[in-house]
Amino acid sequence: MRSPSPTSILAVSAFALAACRGEVSEDPPVTLIRNMHNQPKYKAQAAGKFFADGRAMRQPVEGTLSVEAFEEDDERSTGVASDAQGYVLDIPKKAAAAFGGVDALVARGKERFGIYCAPCHGLIGDGNGTVAKRGFTGIASLHQDRIRRSPDGQLYATITNGVRTMPGYAAQIPMNDRWAIVAYVRVLELSQAVSAK
Ligand code: HEC
Repeated sequence: MRSPSPTSILAVSAFALAACRGEVSEDPPVTLIRNMHNQPKYKAQAAGKFFADGRAMRQPVEGTLSVEAFEEDDERSTGVASDAQGYVLDIPKKAAAAFGGVDALVARGKERFGIYCAPCHGLIGDGNGTVAKRGFTGIASLHQDRIRRSPDGQLYATITNGVRTMPGYAAQIPMNDRWAIVAYVRVLELSQAVSAK
């Protein structure tokens, strides 16, 4: 067998270098085998030809309520006290019971925080996650006195509805998981509250 020519070695190494991971690029990634990258499907809010009104999405049947959207326990689902005088002060007992106790609640919260919050807020909640490093500015540190002193229900409502430039996560994170994240944020806050003065 002939040994490879210098030109082909150069070409192969140039390709290998160009494919370096971790580089920031505006271009879409090169995918040789596209597998299921292209799928004929409708996305939310897209136009479609099938229905007469030209929308791909359907309205719920009039007078109906989705089972997922219905929650009898208002305080647990909104984080707002039932007398509407402010936020729920503490994590509802039923949320902890859903996981089988406070330890399990915190463990679940730690896992969910790592998935949903750490990309922006960082693993220790200082607002310095990967997304922040890539240029999303203004991500709050969770170790501010104002947030530390806020009622648990307010933190829960922030996760549920979002706040200013932070999107809400009610669609991705189920109710009890949101409370679990609140529990873990409290743990993080305690862990970072020691001053080294
Ligand atoms: C896409 C990035 C992003 C993700 C993911 C994210 N946040 Fe935020 N968060 C922000 C930004 C940006 C702000 C600051 C909003 C502002 O003040 O304009 C913020 C603010 C906050 C605040 C402060 C609210 C206040 O009262 O000022 C809390 C608490 C918070 N986030 C908790 C969370 C938790 C818990 C999660 C995970 C469920 C999460 N965030 C996920 C971007 C994010």
